Amino acid sequence: MYSVEQQALAQLVSAPDLAGDPGLAADFRRHHAETEQQAALVGDRLEAQGGAPSAIKDAIMKLGGKGFLAFALAQPETPGRLAVHAYSYEAMEWAGYEMLIRFAEAAGDVETVSMARGIRDEERAMMERLERGFDAAEKVSHGDTPPEEMSDHVRKHLAEAHALESQGIQLLSKSEKIAGDPRLAQICRRNLEKSRRHAQLIEQRLEELGTGPSSLKDNVLALGGLNWSFFFQAQSDTPAKLAAFAYAYEHLKIGGYELLLRTARRAGDAVTGNLCESLVTEERDMAESVAGAFDSAVQAALMAVRI
Ligand SMILES: [Fe+2]
Ligand SMILES: [Fe+2]
Repeated sequence: MYSVEQQALAQLVSAPDLAGDPGLAADFRRHHAETEQQAALVGDRLEAQGGAPSAIKDAIMKLGGKGFLAFALAQPETPGRLAVHAYSYEAMEWAGYEMLIRFAEAAGDVETVSMARGIRDEERAMMERLERGFDAAEKVSHGDTPPEEMSDHVRKHLAEAHALESQGIQLLSKSEKIAGDPRLAQICRRNLEKSRRHAQLIEQRLEELGTGPSSLKDNVLALGGLNWSFFFQAQSDTPAKLAAFAYAYEHLKIGGYELLLRTARRAGDAVTGNLCESLVTEERDMAESVAGAFDSAVQAALMAVRI
């Protein structure tokens, strides 16, 4: 979590300038201050436990963080994308502290439990602020777009959503090997089936809108997927980490559909809007099901340690 906070700091330095909306900028600034505090608290606990924040790991994560931000900078309509990625990052932090609470409880480390609970609540509060900012983020992205261009934006973002689903499918197909826990493995399997169905629904809608699947490049770079897959490779090597990252990935999709739903409505495309609405509901259920496996994921990770 110390590394995660370091990476959050790297992102949050520039986030207020990129937000494009005063309310969102203020949210990012406030969370930057909270995150500095969080990093200090976690660093203290790490030292109290006899560990020194690993310089190498910090460097790697900071690098990843900058890549993440460089990507956000390079993309058009940055505010929307930034809000969605930040939302997903907060979800990853929230899940990470949920895991830490469980590990610290197992170790009888009450101080870490209480610290992790406090930070977890701050991460959740930031997620809620970002959710309230989705309207503003979408407006900054499309408010000035001429109405006749809006349908192009809907198609483009549908294609991006398809790429997100495709990447999620890849992640979930590999996750069964890592899951190490029957409950988590079962949830990953179920979410894999749902993701395949989501990808089909989006393909169908794109076809109706005159964009064939052949034009779907599913370019992972188009979504900053490079950094995400780097993330997953580096991090999701244990059941607990896998569950935390799967939870974050679900929130990347939730945020994506939340914004697309607003864009579709702005474009007067009720069919796509309704599709996104039902996808948001399903993604939220999928995220909840992953959170429901946190206990058993931690148990599986602890079993592996004991063996
Ligand atoms: Fe944090
Ligand atoms: Fe955070």
